[in-house]
Amino acid sequence: MSERVTTRPQKAETRPTKGLAPDRSAVRGLGLRIRQWRNALLGSPEFRSRIQRFPATKWLANKKANALFRLTAGFVHSQVLAACVKLRVFDHLRDRSLKTAELAERCDLPEARMRLLLEQAARLGLVRQAETDGWILDDAGVVVATDPGIAAMIAHHDMLYQDLADPATLLRAPETDTQLKRFWAYARNEKPGAIDPDRAASYSGLMQASQSMLADCILAAHDFGHYKSIMDVGGGDGTFLATAAAAHPHLALHLFELPPVAELARRNLSAKPLGARSELHSGDFAADPIPATADCVCLIRILCDHDDARALAILNNLHRSLAPGTRVMIAEAMAGPSEGAQLAAVYFSLYFLAMGSGRCRTDTAIKGLLVQAGFGRPHTVATPNPLLATLVFAER
Ligand SMILES: C[S@@+](CC[C@H](N)C(=O)[O-])C[C@H]1O[C@@H](n2cnc3c(N)ncnc32)[C@H](O)[C@@H]1O
Repeated sequence: MSERVTTRPQKAETRPTKGLAPDRSAVRGLGLRIRQWRNALLGSPEFRSRIQRFPATKWLANKKANALFRLTAGFVHSQVLAACVKLRVFDHLRDRSLKTAELAERCDLPEARMRLLLEQAARLGLVRQAETDGWILDDAGVVVATDPGIAAMIAHHDMLYQDLADPATLLRAPETDTQLKRFWAYARNEKPGAIDPDRAASYSGLMQASQSMLADCILAAHDFGHYKSIMDVGGGDGTFLATAAAAHPHLALHLFELPPVAELARRNLSAKPLGARSELHSGDFAADPIPATADCVCLIRILCDHDDARALAILNNLHRSLAPGTRVMIAEAMAGPSEGAQLAAVYFSLYFLAMGSGRCRTDTAIKGLLVQAGFGRPHTVATPNPLLATLVFAER
């Protein structure tokens, strides 16, 4: 399998080259003046009214107005989706079509309200009207119905939705108490080893549900068949290891986690049954020695949870612990120029603000942290879905 290694630097991080800097700044200055002139035009209600009426520009004016309204009403769209998940509309319509009245009965809603919800869900591409007053799933609805990870993510957005209810206060006072800070118990816990097992089980359940789509994306982008053994650091309940093990039956499996989550992984992997192929280690990945037993060490959705100082402490600890030649893979949603990466960056930047720690970084920023910790040969590998993850590899 060939990896798509990308070397293109992220736009925002391009440094001006000596000698070329004055030309670039002149071009930038001209670009800025053109943008200011354009903004002044657009800011005029008369100009907007003219382009809305002029036949050659009407389509563009409508496109821009629709885009702005989509943004303005995005929270309503999310709530239509959330209502469908909570009322199990997608489950009810899975593999069958149903009449409004049948769905109303299953969802315990008056028929008129059921129809109101279904009509909006149809407008958002979640369901389709199949016959008079009868409904089937549309493409996005099929995906939500068949991927429990997506439904679980949507359901847990109840917390994020409440945390973002007053975004200006959250931005001014990030220390504000939020639901996500309580949910992700380790994020601000000074003593990671002291995490309550019930809290660990509830965030691990969400991670487990959303891991299958991520594992597919990572395994499609990189061939783990080259390795004899892999170690998943902060590997949750072992779902990624189990998926990798199914694709590569020779792999020996190692997992390093906080004690209550390592125990969940032990149970999960023994049930698969992968107990004989796995070794579980528990501790704090920023402070305790990580066993140097694997030739590839994975950090999936780990660095993004932490601010730079702590992300660096984790990488420094890995560098201290691992044997020379060990490969390290960072896999998480990264900011970048693609549409998926842009969407991920907006989402996770506000998510981590509510969670009280973490950053959605570019691949360049992650490579910078790896180099700072002493790792060599950092490189980026694109995945089929940058909305979910991009990979960065480096060598101890
Ligand atoms: C966002 S979850 C990612 C889990 C898994 N890698 C995945 O992608 O599904 C972060 C994981 O890091 C673990 N973790 C957090 N702090 C840790 C620490 N100090 N030492 C070891 N593991 C830790 C958590 O228990 C949690 O399972």
